[in-house]
Parts: sequence; structure tokens; C-alpha cells
Amino acid sequence: MQDLAGRLGAKVDALEFEWGKPVEPEKVKEQLAKGPYSLVAIVHAETSTGVLNPVQAIGDLIKESGALYLVDCVTSLGGMPVTMDAWGADALYSGTQKCLSCPPGLAPLSFSDKALDKLKGRKNKVPNWYLDLSMIMNYWEGHTRAYHHTAPINMVYALYAAQRCVLDEGLAAVHARHREMHERLVRGLENMGLRMYVREEYRLPMLNAVTVPEGLDEAGVRSRLLREHAIEIGAGLGPMAGKIWRIGLMGHTARAANVDKVLSALAACM
Ligand SMILES: Cc1ncc(COP(=O)(O)O)c(C=O)c1O
Repeated sequence: MQDLAGRLGAKVDALEFEWGKPVEPEKVKEQLAKGPYSLVAIVHAETSTGVLNPVQAIGDLIKESGALYLVDCVTSLGGMPVTMDAWGADALYSGTQKCLSCPPGLAPLSFSDKALDKLKGRKNKVPNWYLDLSMIMNYWEGHTRAYHHTAPINMVYALYAAQRCVLDEGLAAVHARHREMHERLVRGLENMGLRMYVREEYRLPMLNAVTVPEGLDEAGVRSRLLREHAIEIGAGLGPMAGKIWRIGLMGHTARAANVDKVLSALAACM
């Protein structure tokens, strides 16, 4: 986000927090007081570490500041409640390939009236054709519909089918299944003597960060899992490289048979 915004000419102040810990609302409050800011951006479900960020608490702070609030829900949508309006979020984006279990390629988006007013009030053109929402809005719903791009119709059908699967099962049931499968995985890992990297109160259900035991060849275990069991788990990123494994339980894969399979395969490879 920081890189993207910087490339578009934004001046960005980034707040850094320890990997594996959530954003601290107090620090956000202090930073907001140094504003004004046009936009505050946060990741809801942090895929690099398995941390859930307090998007509601941050939203409450931003309401008073006048900034727009952008929330990345790439990993959360379809796996846990995403309540944009309650958070006071003005812009939200997600992906199709995580808890919606759809092929990658589209980014579901949503905007508040405040965000749309800001967009409509622009004095100059959006400096990126493909992300020019003023043109895309015309393409979607303009009175005189104007061409913007050729829609990836196969993807639109795929997303429609993926959403239908979620709604057939029921949104609340889908969220509960992610939570139950996460608990099943954590129980199994702890029975094997492994420890979760993230504290329980802000652990994500769909991305499970596991501390690699001291002295174990973590990359060797991952490659055996892939080679011998056709299971891929994620490596640690940045400062977590070599220290954690990241086990995804997203969408269709968040099922008891898969949890049991990864547990027994992991035990065999270790
Ligand atoms: C939280 C989060 N945001 C953004 C992205 C980027 O999504 P994409 O790869 O679809 O561009 C990812 C990808 O894994 C992610 O986990």
C-alpha cells in the first residue's frame, strides 16, 4: 500500500508495528493528531503474520479526523465478518482467490458515499487508466454507458459461482466453519508440541502462523510436504523468514479432512 500510494505521488507516513502484533489504536491516535491526513489505510487480516487488526477501533478514531478510511480485506472476505459500514470504512478491496475460493483475477471493491463524493469532486484525471473509477462507474452504471475495458466475463461468472457457494452454505455458517477448522488445527498442532506464533486474542482463523521448533530444517519440512504429500504451506516473510510456517485454511480448503491431512503429513515430515 505504501509503495502503491508513493508511486501515485502521495506523501506517506507509515506506522510500523512488531510483526505478529496488531496495530495499536493509541499510536494511530497520536499520529492522527499530527495530521490532517486525506486517507488512513490498514490491512484487516494480515496474511504475512496471521494477525487480526482492530479495524473497528481505528475506524472510530478516524471518524473524528475527517480522513477517508481504506481497509484491505483480501484475506478476510468470505472467512470472517467484514462489516464495512459499522467500521466507518470508505473504501474496501478484496481478492477472489482467498476465502471466496475463486480463481485469482478480480478485486471486489466497495466505496462509501463520502469516498464517491471525493472521487466526483476531482479537479484532474485519475493518473491511471485501469484504476480510474470515475470511468469505471460510467461503464457500470452511467446513464450514457461508456466503454472502459473488456470485462473478464469468465472471471465474473467464476465469482458469481463462488459467492453462490458461500450463500448456499450461509455466511454465518461459512465464518463458523473457518473458526472451527482453525481451532481443530491449533489443537492438533499443540498436541504435536508445536506453538502458535500469534496470541489467541488476535489470531486469524484463515492464516495460521506456527513457530518452527528450534533446530528444525523448516524449508526441508515444507519441501517434503509439497513433494510427498502435495501440500504447500507458506514460509515466513521478512523478519519472520525461517521462524514461522503459515498454514492457510481458506474457503473450500477449511475442512476437517484437510486439517487432519496437513497435521498427519506435517508430523511425518518433521
Ligand atoms: C492482505 C493482502 N493484501 C493484498 C494482497 C495482494 O493481493 P493480489 O495478490 O491479489 O494482488 C494479498 C495477497 O496475498 C494479501 O494477503
